Amino acid sequence: MKIAVLPGDGIGPEIVAEAIRVLDALELPYEMESAPVGGAAYEAHGHPLPETTLKLAKDADAVLFGAVGDWKYDRLERSLRPEQAILGLRKSLGLFANFRPAICYEQLVGASSLKPELVSGLDILIIRELTGDIYFGQPRGRRSAPDGHFPGAEEAFDTMRYTRPEIERIAHVAFQAARKRSKRVTSVDKANVLETFQLWKDVVTDVAKEYPDVALDHMYVDNAAMQLVKDPKKFDVVVTGNMFGDILSDEAAMLTGSIGMLPSASLNASSQGLYEPSHGSAPDIAGKGVANPLATILSAAMMLRFSLNQAEAADRIESAVKHVLAQGLRTADIWSEGTTKVGTREMGDAVVAAITKKT
Ligand code: NAI
Ligand code: MG
Repeated sequence: MKIAVLPGDGIGPEIVAEAIRVLDALELPYEMESAPVGGAAYEAHGHPLPETTLKLAKDADAVLFGAVGDWKYDRLERSLRPEQAILGLRKSLGLFANFRPAICYEQLVGASSLKPELVSGLDILIIRELTGDIYFGQPRGRRSAPDGHFPGAEEAFDTMRYTRPEIERIAHVAFQAARKRSKRVTSVDKANVLETFQLWKDVVTDVAKEYPDVALDHMYVDNAAMQLVKDPKKFDVVVTGNMFGDILSDEAAMLTGSIGMLPSASLNASSQGLYEPSHGSAPDIAGKGVANPLATILSAAMMLRFSLNQAEAADRIESAVKHVLAQGLRTADIWSEGTTKVGTREMGDAVVAAITKKT
């Protein structure tokens, strides 16, 4: 098993270090190699995703990724900005399926912005298509408006596009994931207004015929945004396009208490995947040793489960995380009255201790 480790910027190196200590505690036979990415790679090599870093990622079974970005790179031209590294990795490795589980841990029910009864026991899985949609569609650009309300004015445009095979493959991923859960899929679209999402709805409906054991319903994205805060537990697996998935998964993140708790997996057609916390590089708290490492540690658990065929080791990480929360240990982002505030390193220590105790 080969793992490429790309810590990145800001809190990235701090939280990835804890995930590595947790993986080491499991004593599994893997090789690990690190490379710079994002702003760190720009500083060292003049590019956010150097050839050597990309090759390391391509040759690995899995990539463990921290986060990239810092305000100090805001004035760089777009192609050199740290965030281009993650877009480049998704594209180059063909990582079209993004899994974002939103689980509200029982001990953190009070940390959610919603009423406890709405989030207690919450466990939903958002599956976002990651390599198509308006984020990548061509043509895009700026021009003088050829028509419309202000002909001749400066205008910018992007293009929303999906092909049938792109929608089919993400729909299969969603139905297969639902088979292992409560056998319900909600497909989120905007078919009432957008042709792209009429095709989306048609294709998902067609693919559903191959999964008669899974219940499918369709929801418009504006209603889905509302239902997610009104009654989130009505959802199980949610499948949607790149842009709607970006927005809805951040919304779902907040239901669970903190973005510092949320892992993610981005998978391609083989079992290769990139695993990263759902949050960014948090420059406001970088270097202070206070970042929550649990999202990254839980991402490492997803890596063991999806790419490295080590489901039992993944279970051990997840129960260790529940154990430290039950002990009352909290980083600042999830701290509340009556619990013990700990730093990044101490949180990592506690997870390692919970794992080694159980062996
Ligand atoms: P962010 O997710 O980095 O931070 C948002 C807020 O959440 C901040 O107050 C931060 O302190 C807090 N936070 C995030 N992770 C935390 C953790 N593990 N523990 C405790 N608190 C945590 O988003 P923001 O501030 O919008 O972006 C910062 C930089 O990160 C930008 O350069 C952005 O482009 C980049 N970014 C990178 C991503 C990636 O690498 N995949 C994803 C999202 C943003
Ligand atoms: Mg986002």
